[in-house]
Amino acid sequence: MSSSDPAKVAVLISGRGSNMQALAAAQGPEYQVVLVASDRPDAAGLAWARTEGLATFALSPRGIGKIAYEDALDAALRAAGADYIALAGYMRLLSDTFVARWRGRIVNIHPSLLPRYKGLDTHARAIAAGDAAGGCSVHVVTEELDGGEVLGRAEVPIRADDDADTLAARVLAEEHRLYPAVLKEFVRA
Ligand code: GRF
Repeated sequence: MSSSDPAKVAVLISGRGSNMQALAAAQGPEYQVVLVASDRPDAAGLAWARTEGLATFALSPRGIGKIAYEDALDAALRAAGADYIALAGYMRLLSDTFVARWRGRIVNIHPSLLPRYKGLDTHARAIAAGDAAGGCSVHVVTEELDGGEVLGRAEVPIRADDDADTLAARVLAEEHRLYPAVLKEFVRA
């Protein structure tokens, strides 16, 4: 690849895929989405990707086990020519072996201001703690859950009448802005 070629990005999803859609909408000279892959063949985002003409890969680990599943995923990513993997609502933990194979080339979006609130229920936890702001972070994926280097964050003020759903909706809008912007910088570096 010459330095002027767009980076090839595979996006991994498990559900609706709104961040994947934002990443696809922002394709350009910095990166192209070469594959949308899901561990859930019924993921709504996969159907959207197909209608957009994006290449897709769907495989459930159920019945074949994690090792065979990740081997098949890895083969699909390599066949697509992926340079980078962007996790976008991918709800499965990647094994240490898989992370090592793609070290430094997997990023994730997480709905909190990392390092606060790794894991689940981030918005409810931020509200319960009385935080002035929630938000989202894009980070490098390592073996530690939500623990890799933070590449960018967007803050969203928490309102007195917020619940987890209202806060999540405003944070999601920021995710859609933050993720493509950070990914473009990351693949350029
Ligand atoms: C987003 O809130 C993301 O931060 C989190 O899972 C959610 C996925 O939403 N990791 P979508 O599938 O991108 O719409």
